[in-house]
Amino acid sequence: MEAPKVNVSNGTKIPCIGFGTFGSDHASNEEVMDSVRLAIKNGYTHIDCASVYGNEKEIGIVLKEAMDGKITGKKIKRSDLWITGKLWNDKHDKEEVIPSLKQSLSDLQLDYLDLYLVHWPFPNFHPPKCDVSSRAENARPYIHEEFMACWREMEKAQETGLVKAIGVSNVTIAKLEKILPDCKIRPAFIEMELHPTFQQVKFREYAKLNSIGIIGFCPLGSPNRPDRDKDDEDAIDMADPIVLELAKKHNVHPAIICLKWAQAHNIIPIPFSTKEKNIISNLASVCNNPLSEEEIEKLNSVEKNCRLVKGPVFLWKSAKDWHDLWDEDGIIVK
Ligand SMILES: NC(=O)c1ccc[n+]([C@@H]2O[C@H](COP(=O)([O-])OP(=O)(O)OC[C@H]3O[C@@H](n4cnc5c(N)ncnc54)[C@H](OP(=O)(O)O)[C@@H]3O)[C@@H](O)[C@H]2O)c1
Repeated sequence: MEAPKVNVSNGTKIPCIGFGTFGSDHASNEEVMDSVRLAIKNGYTHIDCASVYGNEKEIGIVLKEAMDGKITGKKIKRSDLWITGKLWNDKHDKEEVIPSLKQSLSDLQLDYLDLYLVHWPFPNFHPPKCDVSSRAENARPYIHEEFMACWREMEKAQETGLVKAIGVSNVTIAKLEKILPDCKIRPAFIEMELHPTFQQVKFREYAKLNSIGIIGFCPLGSPNRPDRDKDDEDAIDMADPIVLELAKKHNVHPAIICLKWAQAHNIIPIPFSTKEKNIISNLASVCNNPLSEEEIEKLNSVEKNCRLVKGPVFLWKSAKDWHDLWDEDGIIVK
């Protein structure tokens, strides 16, 4: 099975589903490596990586196996893979962007990436597994000049052929309103949290208007995220009554309904899974039997504005709480 591809603004095509690789606390690097191998064996060609996930070396071994023909029995051409990478927050300085990208390329055993994203629009970082209420000493709000200095290096990465396209993640409309007019090369994609209980309708319309493709993370509502990232009031997508009703009607797992919802809205979902059965059914969900317009309408009503990746560890000292990261009043919070 192979995922249908969709056009990208730079003239290339991207598979309409990708495979996530964030093991977080529940899947070790070896488990992620085995999962990526299973994903490629079963037809995924789009892999969503990030240096901060700490597993690019392991994924690189699998990509090499794939291109050597050791996974499917047939050599997969580099041009038939879509590999996304992400610049971590501690590498935003002008001098650090290209070296960090080159490190990812070396770890992934590739000579270019299809897409390179600025993971967060702040240079704020924290030790892995730190207390969610901790605030890093040097953390600061969005500073446009700093971000654009980083973006200029991203543009150079594309101009020099190290990457085919560049993009952003975890931004807001307010930030893009500042960023887009100042770009020499505009973002080809935004990677943002999207699932039936967090639909970001206005943001998706804005992206469409600006011809920016959308990659949706946590498409199933990230059920295995660490407890420290869970709030009592968080909605559970795969337990929503309408999602369950449609899953029952079509005799599929609720995960499949979430992915079909994403696809109906031209969102490229990037689900992660360690289980072959789930890996296969997730890919199949975007290859067959789309939901009807009425069913999608029903799913649209599941929206609860429930953001799961709130990002409190990226807050600066004077920030009130995680809402400040997301410019909810349409103005960049300083
Ligand atoms: N740009 C960003 O800042 C950002 C932030 C977060 C995530 N991401 C990316 O988005 C990817 C996906 O997000 P995520 O991994 O947090 O959440 P997710 O894909 O919404 O959920 C993954 C979980 O769902 C379970 N699952 C998968 N398919 C299933 C199925 N068919 N039936 C039942 N359960 C199923 C998996 O468990 P099993 O292993 O048991 O199948 C897995 O633990 C990440 O891996 C990462 O690449 C990016």
